[in-house]
Amino acid sequence: MPIIAPSILTADFLHLDDACKMLNESKADWFHLDVMDGRFVPNISFGMHIIKQIRKAGTKFFDVHLMILEPEKFAEEFKDAGADGLTVHLEACPHLHRNIQQIKSLGLKAGVAINPHSPVMLLQDIITDLDLVLVMSVNPGFGGQSFIPNSINKIKDLKALINKKGSSAKIEVDGGVSLQNAKEILEAGADVLVAGNAVFGSADPKRTIEKFKML
Ligand code: DX5
Ligand code: ZN
Repeated sequence: MPIIAPSILTADFLHLDDACKMLNESKADWFHLDVMDGRFVPNISFGMHIIKQIRKAGTKFFDVHLMILEPEKFAEEFKDAGADGLTVHLEACPHLHRNIQQIKSLGLKAGVAINPHSPVMLLQDIITDLDLVLVMSVNPGFGGQSFIPNSINKIKDLKALINKKGSSAKIEVDGGVSLQNAKEILEAGADVLVAGNAVFGSADPKRTIEKFKML
């Protein structure tokens, strides 16, 4: 069964406690938390303070997606705020190996995200160090965008690389994931599906999560 990680970004921020309660009671596996700095991506979302508040209510794995420059400056603060895993962007980290070691030394799961233009091959020398690779299937910065079809080929390439290198990294797909395209994404090799709009924009988010789980 796929791991389902609804993205809080599309939740009602006036009632985050309701969103947490819904996710706790649902079949969702992870909370996906999108941190944006207005520099690496053209949008600003929320930071450690909000995550710390959400942590008081959320009972599941906190999958924190850092769309920020210089994530090393804040890794420890995100851990203290309640992150269970930190994912940094390949494109934001000139010293990616060091970033991954730092995250692991904090006792957290370590992930790397790649933007739509970044080839999977760029991960070949770090793949065995990773717990997770996040394939961005839209350009990061906003929820509710359309899935970029070439992401399917990237997921397949990544799966082949993971198998070839004997890595245990999970493949997470983020952006434009829906009940319509999820099956194809899973068949390509994905383990974790992030869903923002598809869950929080649906009439019955809990039921939608259940449908994702049954794919
Ligand atoms: C985009 C974020 C995504 C986003 C997904 O930059 O990383 O996690 O919330 O939202 P949907 O599922 O609506 O594309
Ligand atoms: Zn994300």
